[in-house]
Amino acid sequence: MEKQQTMSGRVALVTGGGRGIGEAIAHSLADLGVRVAICDIHDGAERVAAAISSEGQRAVPYHYDISDVEQTADLVNSVINEFGRLDILVNNAGIGGAHGLLHEINVEDWDRTISVNLRGTFLATKYAMPHLLEQTHSTIINIASTYGIIGAPLAPDYCATKGAIVNLTRQLAVDYGPLGVRINAVLPGYIDTDLGGRRANLPKDQAEEMFRRRETSAALQPLGRQATTTEVARVVAFLASDDASFMTGSIVTVDGGCTSTFYHG
Ligand SMILES: NC(=O)c1ccc[n+]([C@@H]2O[C@H](COP(=O)([O-])OP(=O)(O)OC[C@H]3O[C@@H](n4cnc5c(N)ncnc54)[C@H](O)[C@@H]3O)[C@@H](O)[C@H]2O)c1
Repeated sequence: MEKQQTMSGRVALVTGGGRGIGEAIAHSLADLGVRVAICDIHDGAERVAAAISSEGQRAVPYHYDISDVEQTADLVNSVINEFGRLDILVNNAGIGGAHGLLHEINVEDWDRTISVNLRGTFLATKYAMPHLLEQTHSTIINIASTYGIIGAPLAPDYCATKGAIVNLTRQLAVDYGPLGVRINAVLPGYIDTDLGGRRANLPKDQAEEMFRRRETSAALQPLGRQATTTEVARVVAFLASDDASFMTGSIVTVDGGCTSTFYHG
């Protein structure tokens, strides 16, 4: 039987790693011995990097906006200057987007969602790819959403970007599989985070109502609850590892079964 290769020595870049699912992904990769570059537009990457470093692993924070061309090119250059290589890219940074019927949402809000969720994934992939192509166990994990394969109420921009990321994942698998880079997507369902700080920005009663609604919806799906960020992160870490060496172009739901049925309750 072939021995599992150690992942120590490899380097991962996790976008949006300053909190939520990205934070858990950074920790899960570090637990496998991977050195982690953590990028976030907001504060948070420093705290996460410090926590990982205090556990004896190597992590470096980066403060960049992945929707911006120059910043994303700089980000990848800085990671290469620091670590000398890049093996794993996790395109996790994302925003929840506008909330409303398509004809009611602002063009600016639509553009912003496309810009962070889709263009950001494109830019990080574009600048990381030449370095991934230099390594032998390279891989990309795109964090899409169950909302990329179903329609969700009042989220046209978000659903459009996540659906695009799902099929971009398949397309990239076709082009880069022969070149040695595996590319998969993870589709979380209801995860207990504050995507885009939406809840934090609401008045207390509305924030509580939003949390209650999510809990109620999650309770109706087969596993009956929201997931923790770690439950998503461990699947990402598996896909990044050589245990997933024959997986590319896979669309992996981590959703408590919610997209397997239309029977909810
Ligand atoms: N929470 C859920 O229920 C859920 C469900 C499905 C998919 N997702 C996806 O998981 C990913 C992570 O979401 P989360 O729930 O952890 O949200 P979150 O808001 O807690 O974390 C997202 C992180 O991305 C960062 N970010 C946003 N825009 C950025 C930019 N332009 N450049 C760099 N960093 C940026 C934010 O500052 C934040 O730290 C997103 O892609 C989201 O769409 C989340």
